[in-house]
Amino acid sequence: MGLRIKVYVETAWKAMNQVIQRRDIVVVVDVLRASTTVVNAFANGAVRVYPVETIREAWAMKRENPEIILCGERGGLRPRGFELGNSPLEYTSERVRGRWLVMTTTDGTRAMNRARATQRPVLVGACINSAAAARRAFELAGDLSSGVSIVAVGRKGDFSLEDFLCAGLIAGKMPEDGCDYSDAALAAISLTEDADESFPTLFNKSSHASELKDIGLGRDVVFASNIDKFRVVPMLERGASHFKLE
Ligand code: MLT
Repeated sequence: MGLRIKVYVETAWKAMNQVIQRRDIVVVVDVLRASTTVVNAFANGAVRVYPVETIREAWAMKRENPEIILCGERGGLRPRGFELGNSPLEYTSERVRGRWLVMTTTDGTRAMNRARATQRPVLVGACINSAAAARRAFELAGDLSSGVSIVAVGRKGDFSLEDFLCAGLIAGKMPEDGCDYSDAALAAISLTEDADESFPTLFNKSSHASELKDIGLGRDVVFASNIDKFRVVPMLERGASHFKLE
């Protein structure tokens, strides 16, 4: 039997320290909405995305490179002076093709940035690229003899259902006979086995989905729950500070 890959699902980005110690390939999942937004930006032709933790860092990068597009959210909304918010639907080809983006969001870009400390490739996973993200993470883990940690980012350090579901979707698309799953990974996979019925129902019932609908962003929830719309997998290489496509 060949090498088996250990696959973990972490249930909030605060578990990143364990992921860093294991030096796993990381798949960052903040499906509502940062990871969906980043995947859609690349699908529409963006060339680089720099994830940064603060609004101040984003502005500093903009001052150094006025051509870069300032993107992100606080409280779900576009910060003052930013060109794009965190709605994946804003990232049209007219707006992002050929461009570099700097992005800061409440949790997602923070997790992406912290994952760099693994000194391993960091991937962005969402429902819209789940199969491609699973395939790429599995290949990289085989090449580098490492495990895979799918980090369900959650909200402000806590668990969130939609990220856990999306992490299960990705874990469940890795070849079963080549993987050993953590208990959390098995739980996440079992919740997503019925991708047509229970998955969209649970996804929609999550508190984050309800809050986005309450502030008029229901279209983002619908878009984010599309499964395997794209094959692009944004990747941040070891030592790099931006995502790109390979
Ligand atoms: C985040 O990174 O915290 C999120 O993507 C929040 C959001 O915009 O819905």
